[in-house]
Amino acid sequence: MRVAVADGLTMLLSVVLLLLLLSVERCSSVKWLALHRVKHRPWNTRNNCSRKVGLVKQQIKLCRDNLDLMPSVARASSVSVETCQSQFSDRRWNCSSILLLPGRPKDLVRGTREKAYVYGIAAAAMVHTIARACSIGVTTKCSCGVLPNTPPSGTFKWGGCGDDLHFGTYFTQKFTDATLRSKTGKVKKSTKAMMDEHNFAAGRHVAQNSLVTSCKCHGVSGSCSIKTCWKALPDFDLIGAALKERYALAVEVKRRKRKKAHVLLPIQPGRDSFSRDELIYYAKSPDYCYPDEKTGSVGTRGRLCDPMTVGPGNCGPMCCGRGADNFTMEVVERCECKYYWCCYVKCKACTRVLNLSKCR
Ligand SMILES: *[C@@H]1O[C@H](CO)[C@@H](O)[C@H](O)[C@H]1NC(C)=O
Ligand SMILES: *[C@@H]1O[C@H](CO)[C@@H](O)[C@H](O)[C@H]1NC(C)=O
Ligand SMILES: *[C@@H]1O[C@H](CO)[C@@H](O)[C@H](O)[C@H]1NC(C)=O
Ligand SMILES: *[C@@H]1O[C@H](CO)[C@@H](O)[C@H](O)[C@H]1NC(C)=O
Repeated sequence: MRVAVADGLTMLLSVVLLLLLLSVERCSSVKWLALHRVKHRPWNTRNNCSRKVGLVKQQIKLCRDNLDLMPSVARASSVSVETCQSQFSDRRWNCSSILLLPGRPKDLVRGTREKAYVYGIAAAAMVHTIARACSIGVTTKCSCGVLPNTPPSGTFKWGGCGDDLHFGTYFTQKFTDATLRSKTGKVKKSTKAMMDEHNFAAGRHVAQNSLVTSCKCHGVSGSCSIKTCWKALPDFDLIGAALKERYALAVEVKRRKRKKAHVLLPIQPGRDSFSRDELIYYAKSPDYCYPDEKTGSVGTRGRLCDPMTVGPGNCGPMCCGRGADNFTMEVVERCECKYYWCCYVKCKACTRVLNLSKCR
């Protein structure tokens, strides 16, 4: 009798646990990418920090304490959206569902490599915009990056104001990882949370490792006898491209138990680890050829393709063998522009006919 009661309890507990796990699996940790919708609005009151704009409970406090940094967070969101869509414009999966956040598009909820890319780019973009915000002085919480402690070689000296990567990384980790904590503040240990945490970190590392040296010349009439250099982040497109390479090489992982702890390990035989700047995933991607509600694939019907190009934008791979229809489109462009003294430019309007193809 007592055994039966215990069994009943265990079962009830298991059901509760399962429900908890399912609710964890269903939410997205990049809802805040929806902030691109409010990027032109000012952040002036604590009431601006709400679920409505895409923040989760644990981010609302951070937002209230850092209203001065929120325009940079919102800019990170739009930079992520633009970069993801331009990097994947010639792919079957073209990052279109990112616009559905804070909803739950399936392709960004399942543990696929596409989701891994979006999480990586989101974290990298935030490191970038916050580090920039520091060096241009929008906040008193941070300022210029520390000067490199390696002595400069040759004829320049370190100076100027570098991007504050240290603070950018610190703030980004706090902000993104807030989504990976349960209401009680504990770090979630589901497979999904572990994947998300790693890919956020990978994005931060890719941004950190992309620093370039920028210099400015001084001296008589630009002779460059004195040169000042500092460490700055490159154009974000370069970071987006670096992450796309990691997307192509993303490591498939599986949850395993090692010394009583759950870890993610590569499924590839003979490989027992992945590095901190590799993207990881655990769910196989569909081919994204046809609409499928289960995977969030929207299919490629109607997508533009190029019959002449080599690569993924070619009509063969893009249309998955269904073929393409040719059509023409007239575009009006400014042309034969002339400069008139002083001071205006006058152009003619020319129509150009484009030969285009779209997938059946
Ligand atoms: C913040 O609140 C003010 C006043 O209600 C509003 O004008 C502004 O657009 C809000 N900003 C955002 C980012 O929602
Ligand atoms: C991406 O694909 C969707 C769905 O096929 C399409 O509506 C959208 O125009 C595409 N975006 C770009 C930039 O090609
Ligand atoms: C569309 O145009 C391409 C190149 O201009 C050509 O190779 C192809 O046969 C055309 N397709 C159809 C269905 O007319
Ligand atoms: C578009 O196609 C037409 C007819 O096939 C051809 O005469 C024209 O040169 C093409 N235009 C371009 C820009 O390729």
